[in-house]
Amino acid sequence: MLDRKSFADRDTLAAELAEAVASRINEAIERDGIASVAVSGGSTPARFFAVLGKRKDIAWEKVLVTLVDERWVDELSKRSNANLVNTKMLQGPAATARFIPLYSGGEEPDAEALARTTEALKPLPQTFAAVVLGMGNDGHTASFFPGGDALEDALNGEGPVVAIRAPGAGEPRITFTLSRLLATDGLYLHIEGDEKAETLEKALADGPVEDMPVRAVLRAERPMTVYWCP
Ligand code: 6PG
Repeated sequence: MLDRKSFADRDTLAAELAEAVASRINEAIERDGIASVAVSGGSTPARFFAVLGKRKDIAWEKVLVTLVDERWVDELSKRSNANLVNTKMLQGPAATARFIPLYSGGEEPDAEALARTTEALKPLPQTFAAVVLGMGNDGHTASFFPGGDALEDALNGEGPVVAIRAPGAGEPRITFTLSRLLATDGLYLHIEGDEKAETLEKALADGPVEDMPVRAVLRAERPMTVYWCP
């Protein structure tokens, strides 16, 4: 159920992924009057964000935007995924979208912080129109990191979000759970470069999910489209 699309370059990929996500958003708005999308941070999505945010064929005031995961840092930090979304996507036409951050303040994503975030997420429809995942070369996606202290809960829990710490993660993180991310009309994995193509091949081979948690998504019984370019 994995559809793999390859593109000649990053700009073409960004345009095509934006086209796919825009279609999902517009279908959801037509059906439900509202649409929500969850996007990844990191370095890969910047071009895609810029192209999507410029789309004038989307009723952005009916769109809720959130993140698949976030580093537990202030929104002004360069490490903040919210910062990336705000500066790259929610400009121009997309500025009227409503952004729901996962970071809800404080030093740590403790129980109170998670409760604040969970409350803030309540306006989200039960199903996303689109979820766009990234992948690290250690086989993580969202904040499902190898060695994560709450990996089991993130992959099998019912809660919308989980706090997680892992050796390769830098700051403490907050991530949507797998079940919440799979509740989406369109599921996309956006990766660029040969190294990530090799990582994907490894993840598609047999092996424990704990070693490469992206396997949990790849093995989920639902369609997903990989967008890749060199
Ligand atoms: C994050 C992410 C994460 C990301 C991968 C890929 O906050 O880091 O959401 O899951 O998608 O780490 O990151 P790059 O695009 O920087 O390679």
